[in-house]
Amino acid sequence: MASHTHVNEARAGTETGATPATGTPEAPGPTGVAPPARGDDRLQRLARRNLWMHFTRMGSYDEEHEVPVIVRGEGCYVYDEHGKRYLDGLSALYCVNVGHGRKELGEAAARQAEQLGFYTNWSYAHPPAIELAARVAELAPGNLNRVFFTSGGSEAVESAWKLAKAYHRARGEMNRHKLISRKLAYHGVSMGALAATGLQPLREPFEPLTPGGVHVPNTNSYRWSEERDPLWAADAIEEAIEFEGADTVAAVILEPVQNGGGCFTPQDGYFQRVREICDRHGVLLISDEVICSWGRLGHWFGSERYGYEPDIITTAKGISSAYAPLGAVIAGDHVAEPFLHDKASFAHGFTFGGHPVACAVGLANIDIMERERLGEHVLANEGAFREMLESLRDLPIVGDVRGAGYFHAIELVKDKETKDTFDSAESEVLLRGFLSGELYRRGLICRTDDRGDPIVQLSPPLIAGPEQFEEIEAVLRPVLTEASERMERWSSQSKA
Ligand SMILES: Cc1ncc(COP(=O)(O)O)c(C=O)c1O
Repeated sequence: MASHTHVNEARAGTETGATPATGTPEAPGPTGVAPPARGDDRLQRLARRNLWMHFTRMGSYDEEHEVPVIVRGEGCYVYDEHGKRYLDGLSALYCVNVGHGRKELGEAAARQAEQLGFYTNWSYAHPPAIELAARVAELAPGNLNRVFFTSGGSEAVESAWKLAKAYHRARGEMNRHKLISRKLAYHGVSMGALAATGLQPLREPFEPLTPGGVHVPNTNSYRWSEERDPLWAADAIEEAIEFEGADTVAAVILEPVQNGGGCFTPQDGYFQRVREICDRHGVLLISDEVICSWGRLGHWFGSERYGYEPDIITTAKGISSAYAPLGAVIAGDHVAEPFLHDKASFAHGFTFGGHPVACAVGLANIDIMERERLGEHVLANEGAFREMLESLRDLPIVGDVRGAGYFHAIELVKDKETKDTFDSAESEVLLRGFLSGELYRRGLICRTDDRGDPIVQLSPPLIAGPEQFEEIEAVLRPVLTEASERMERWSSQSKA
């Protein structure tokens, strides 16, 4: 009997469905959910033979372990090749903000492809890139008026770091090259973006990375003592700048709510303090909003929610609701200024940055968000979403619930009182041995992640509402209850 599972890398963030094929200390037991019918043999064979899935243990798929194949989407739901429906509680990796199956986005792409399928932004402009740049600039905070398009988030982060270096050089500060970011933060995988990423298992296989990545504490206050100054993590950025030498630091890059580790929100005043520190030392502040923009936190940009004005914003994913690959670096006028005169230029570009079809989709996506007031919808409903997640706190395994907007995480603990966490072996059993596969089998796609302490993360399409929250709870409650019981059993068996 084929089991419907997929597998991811060790200590990783992964969408539900990940279950190790072999060697697990405890295989998922009977669940009461009927196993799916066998998938399309040809597709399965070709997927195993020819497709290289990202961050995936490809060797774990075989005749008995199917590659999950998603074939269709509609609203908050997607369907696999068996016709089984899943609630997409992760918006296809924080991407599909306006929901699945939006015909008008396909139509916008088709219209543009017919008119002009492609022209580059290298030395040329075209109407969709111009119009979208203007629209983004209008929505972006403060003086962030200059938009440099990319095809995704890593390219945006890579470009922002290069822009920060080039900006300082253009102003005669030749030595400012370092980028400060936070531990456990994910900023992408290209060599520069990876140097900003604060996740050791992702970095280690590719060392040496781009020099100049410096890491500081994040804002996870779950285990801080009550006496701790709430702004100590902001002050740690100043310490790092002084330690490295301010004249070597180009920028600080921070997400409004940090994804890696599980939706770490900032303390009150955190970003204001960071802004002051950056200004004091002539360091640029980059807000990495690849996830936290386009309504994810109820605002066009996450920095608006926390009332700070970055020098640069990096974005992707929700800008086009991922109906076409698109990202952007949005720079303040003061950052762009050195590149706008005489022979100056930013010597950087990607062939597909500002692809006309992707930009046309981006414009149509913003139309939908405005017409349906999706930001307001998130702000009106985030309380109910949070309340549903908070209601799970009575379960012994739920240690913390945190996040903002439609971007929340539940931290799983061994002991609520002591906040004792699961070690790597326990995490493997908990997440890949049970939770990930079981949530997926019950029709919920979300993320289980143990790159920090183990979490379950939810980030539904912005059109979700009370009906979907109820469905999420109806899956999470029994599954987390069983997870808790299994871990207790596993721990007493390991001790015996
Ligand atoms: C904050 C942040 N920055 C950068 C990236 C990299 O984006 P991409 O996967 O589009 O390269 C991500 C991806 O999730 C992200 O969350």
